Amino acid sequence: MINKYKNFIRGLSVNNIGKTGVIIVTTVFITFLIFEVAHTLGLIRNAYLGLITYLAFPLLFVVGLILIPIGWRIYQKEQGKSTRELLNEQFEASDIQTKFAGSRLFRTIVALTVLNVIILSIAGARMLHFMDSAYFCGTACHTVMNPEWVTYQQSPHARVPCIECHVGEGVDALIASKLNGVRQMYLAAFNLYHRPIPTPVHTLRPARETCEHCHWPEKFYGQRLQRHVRYAMDSLSTPCYTTLNIKIDAGGPGRENGAHWHVSQTNQVAYTSVDDKRERLVLLKARQADGSIKTYFNKSLLEFEKAAKGEDERIMDCVDCHNRATHIYRDAEDIVDEFIRRGELDRGLPFLKEQALAALTAGYRSPEAAQNGIRNQIVNFYQQHYPSVAIEKSRELDRVVEILQNTHATNRHYHMRIEWGTYPSHVGHKKKLGCFRCHNADFKSENGEVIKHNCTMCHSILALDSAEPYQFLEQAKEDAPDRPMHEYLQKEFLESIFSE
Ligand code: HEC
Ligand code: HEC
Ligand code: HEC
Ligand code: HEC
Ligand code: HEC
Repeated sequence: MINKYKNFIRGLSVNNIGKTGVIIVTTVFITFLIFEVAHTLGLIRNAYLGLITYLAFPLLFVVGLILIPIGWRIYQKEQGKSTRELLNEQFEASDIQTKFAGSRLFRTIVALTVLNVIILSIAGARMLHFMDSAYFCGTACHTVMNPEWVTYQQSPHARVPCIECHVGEGVDALIASKLNGVRQMYLAAFNLYHRPIPTPVHTLRPARETCEHCHWPEKFYGQRLQRHVRYAMDSLSTPCYTTLNIKIDAGGPGRENGAHWHVSQTNQVAYTSVDDKRERLVLLKARQADGSIKTYFNKSLLEFEKAAKGEDERIMDCVDCHNRATHIYRDAEDIVDEFIRRGELDRGLPFLKEQALAALTAGYRSPEAAQNGIRNQIVNFYQQHYPSVAIEKSRELDRVVEILQNTHATNRHYHMRIEWGTYPSHVGHKKKLGCFRCHNADFKSENGEVIKHNCTMCHSILALDSAEPYQFLEQAKEDAPDRPMHEYLQKEFLESIFSE
């Protein structure tokens, strides 16, 4: 068998071009097999080696295959002989004798062609599969995709492949995404990409399709208790509590409306925005459960005429609120508070909150400057102002520095110009964004009715910047000036939980 193959190869590779083709095909085939086994065993996960295995090898393989007939043709021209004459010269008579199913040579060529097509199809399929892995998306263009990759790995969706959210189902979406990929490779190669990368408002797969694979609105009911602890910038980093009972119900008969009202089966909200940042909205249309439509205009932005025409209208879906479901960049103060609350940053260190926040948010010019700057800020402060603490608690201080350095590195990405707050989350209403983009006094309907925006529509309030975590559940003091509000909030909370 091997001898036959050798004779066949020798017969075909008539000159150096043909020989080169044969050598390429054989070596690529063997190396491909080795790499493929290594991939299957999980020994190789590097995106570049993956690209070599599934893109470069198959391409080389095809080039090798093409060289063989080219070599043959050139040789034929040089010798001025007909194909038949050359065949007689290169092969044994028994190989080229025509039989019922063609000559042996012909059958060998057909068999090898079928084999080649199979090999290339497998490589192609493996390549598509590999290019769909989160690992490939996250690391192939390392400098560009690194922020998304880093945040993704720490998110609740770290096991959901990128393509689940970013590529649609079906062949169209697959082709569109691969074409888009080629465009992105070109942008990356020539350094033409945007920094930071704009949000994929138009190309993201409809969230209703993707997210609802795993979460669906009817599943959201009731409320979710949320405790925020803020620490003051004083020497004790004194805690201060805000406790909310967030209403997340999709609403419906017998149920209180909550945040998922917008995505329930019966309702729909469409909006028009000044630009793709979707931070300044102009026009809202809300389809109610009974099919009627309410329209609200933003009276402070009426100059944006296109809104009135309803162009570029977007139907609100999950990512209009959960825009940071996966690529979660934290607010500096929130994350410092969270580390203190979890006990990872030691509140026993004087002025810890103030110093940690100052170290994180100082304007460093590079990642290296940030790493050094954070250490200097913390170490210098305690050495100067609390020398005994700096000595006794030096291990705790090292831990503080380490945590802050890691936090800085996951949230600020210099190369992509991602700063604190570049990608704000729209769950909540920090800096009047999030829910307040629509639920604010500027949005009025045609008959002058202001859109609802009272504080207890979206959450009951159990404590607001208070020393007590459940401030409003305690009995109001007789003479307290805020007694009516206190009693109102307490009653509202009790009614909302018992209405379920
Ligand atoms: C659970 C769904 C989900 C997964 C999984 C996911 N993304 Fe995203 N991605 C999103 C959403 C949602 C947005 C922002 C949409 C918005 O703001 O409206 C986004 C935005 C982005 C952006 C634009 C920059 C930004 O942060 O807005 C990039 C780039 C990106 N994703 C890459 C990736 C990569 C690479 C992976 C895999 C490592 C991945 N995504 C996995 C949902 C996902
Ligand atoms: C393949 C399944 C899957 C898909 C698709 C998916 N998720 Fe999730 N999601 C999960 C899992 C699993 C969790 C973690 C649940 C937990 O920790 O209790 C989660 C958690 C969440 C949470 C709660 C996070 C928290 O801090 O409690 C939100 C919000 C969320 N997903 C929104 C989305 C949005 C928006 C999309 C679409 C862009 C989406 N998910 C797509 C599986 C998925
Ligand atoms: C109007 C804004 C808004 C929209 C639209 C929205 N959500 Fe939410 N979602 C919220 C808020 C607010 C919470 C509570 C957040 C918290 O507790 O931090 C929440 C909580 C969740 C949770 C956690 C639920 C739990 O039980 O803890 C999941 C999962 C989730 N949303 C998925 C989705 C999906 C999927 C969609 C689209 C079908 C969607 N959301 C649409 C605002 C929204
Ligand atoms: C894109 C605009 C938009 C955003 C952003 C938005 N909403 Fe709404 N929301 C609306 C519109 C429009 C209505 C319907 C108002 C009406 O029927 O009068 C509505 C209705 C609601 C309702 C039902 C009110 C009721 O009882 O009739 C709740 C609850 C609600 N929103 C909570 C939220 C929360 C929480 C957020 C942020 C996480 C949020 N919304 C973000 C546009 C928005
Ligand atoms: C349209 C819905 C909506 C309205 C109206 C609303 N909130 Fe909120 N608010 C939210 C949501 C959703 C969150 C939760 C964000 C999160 O999951 O972190 C929140 C969070 C908060 C927080 C905690 C924020 C933080 O980061 O510490 C406070 C405090 C708060 N709301 C106070 C108020 C007050 C006071 C009002 C009335 C002026 C109000 N809210 C009106 C939806 C609303």
